[in-house]
Amino acid sequence: MTAPKYHLTSYGCQMNKLDSELVESKLRQLGYVAAPAEADADVVLLNTCSVRQHAEDRVWSKLGKLRIRKRTDPGLVVGVLGCMAQEHKRYLLARMPHVDLVVGPSAFGDIDRTVEQARRKNGELAAEREPARTKHEVQGAGVVQVDHGVSGDTIVRDVRVRPHRSQAFVSIMRGCNMPCTYCIVPTTRGEEISRPVADIVEEAQRLCDDGVTEITLLGQTVNAYGRDLPGKPTLALLLRALHEIPALRRLAFITSHPNFLGPDLITALAELPKVARYLHLPVQSGSNRVLKTMRRGYTVERYLARVEQLLAAAPDFELHSDFIVGYPGETEADFEESVALLRRVDFAQSYVFKYSPRPGTVAAELPDDVPEAEKERRNQVLLAAQEELTLRRNVAHVGQTVEVLVEGASKVAGRLSGRTVHHRLVHFASDDLELLGQHVPVRVTSALAHSCIGELQAHDAAGARCAGPVEVGEQ
Ligand code: 5AD
Ligand code: SF4
Repeated sequence: MTAPKYHLTSYGCQMNKLDSELVESKLRQLGYVAAPAEADADVVLLNTCSVRQHAEDRVWSKLGKLRIRKRTDPGLVVGVLGCMAQEHKRYLLARMPHVDLVVGPSAFGDIDRTVEQARRKNGELAAEREPARTKHEVQGAGVVQVDHGVSGDTIVRDVRVRPHRSQAFVSIMRGCNMPCTYCIVPTTRGEEISRPVADIVEEAQRLCDDGVTEITLLGQTVNAYGRDLPGKPTLALLLRALHEIPALRRLAFITSHPNFLGPDLITALAELPKVARYLHLPVQSGSNRVLKTMRRGYTVERYLARVEQLLAAAPDFELHSDFIVGYPGETEADFEESVALLRRVDFAQSYVFKYSPRPGTVAAELPDDVPEAEKERRNQVLLAAQEELTLRRNVAHVGQTVEVLVEGASKVAGRLSGRTVHHRLVHFASDDLELLGQHVPVRVTSALAHSCIGELQAHDAAGARCAGPVEVGEQ
């Protein structure tokens, strides 16, 4: 029997991409192989995101195309995984008979069995394998595994399945307990569940044994880590434990919530030299009125006080943020306060999102009263302000030599790309793929809005070696 081929596409955040790696590792353990292209796959899986309508629309459109393909290829197994599976399970099964399996983000732990069951249901897989033993609901056209699944964190990760040789993501907690009115994540991903310190350290150690030198810890509110665990270990404690791994050279974590940036974490950030020098601390809005209606749980003043405490203890830190523009009731004056705050904090990087009502959230009950054109304008204004700040910081680096962890080949031929401790993207001329995964000195020679260009400096060949080339985006 030839090995079944799968094709998996991720539509969401870093957590979603890491989930895809875990799903792949599970399927490969069962003998599945990655199809070179979607058209060659026996099983097409879409790992989806519900955070904004735009992300969902891309998946609906892809499902439309797969429906047409399935007319001539009835054995094809189509699976919707992740947040949309959780959010739209009924609709997917009732209205999309070409969808064979629907697996929510808390049920990736037995994805292999779910896929096998769907293939069996499609008649593709004869009874040669054992029937699935875990509890799957079989509804209408497809197999559903959403609310009662086995968590992806039970998967003993195959550390070789990862896109970058020198860097890896590690999930330290799932779900979110915060009450932000606009956000669908607490619904799709459920309550906060932290992984025990020992499990995380063990996984990180195995990754480092396999050549990883940079680890980014993931959680929706990563700095609230541990409050659900016995003994309440903190992120600070976890960072200190991971810091002990000799081969690890850089340690980052995303995404933090301002309310959990306490003194113990600030002290750890100041003391631990391997910790990357940026903090992704989304503020969402610069207006106290909007923050209150968003139920973010802090004021602009409190946010600024936390940032000041951090910078007093660790002045080399740079701040990154997320902003939402066009939240219900956001006036021009509210928006101007966001622009002012962005400039005042002097964020090094910001993601700006146009408010998108998510059915079932508190904010979805409010009138979505900022017209689309105005949301777009505010989006552009805030992005332009951020670009100006980012460019200014990049220009200030011209002439300096920075340490770059080389990630891969740039889209521009003859160049490699990597990131600094501040997560700044740097491109430099070289075609020496032996450098991938190494930390090398690069002198910055020019600055662009989203990256720097530099020249590789003489260095010792220290650092991890890396297997295959990876392409990194370049503006
Ligand atoms: N509309 C627009 N942006 C949103 N975000 C979360 N929910 C929404 C929504 N309904 C943004 C927030 C969050 C980031 C991951 O996505 O800024 O920090
Ligand atoms: Fe969503 Fe707020 Fe939780 Fe972030 S903290 S995932 S914005 S509910």
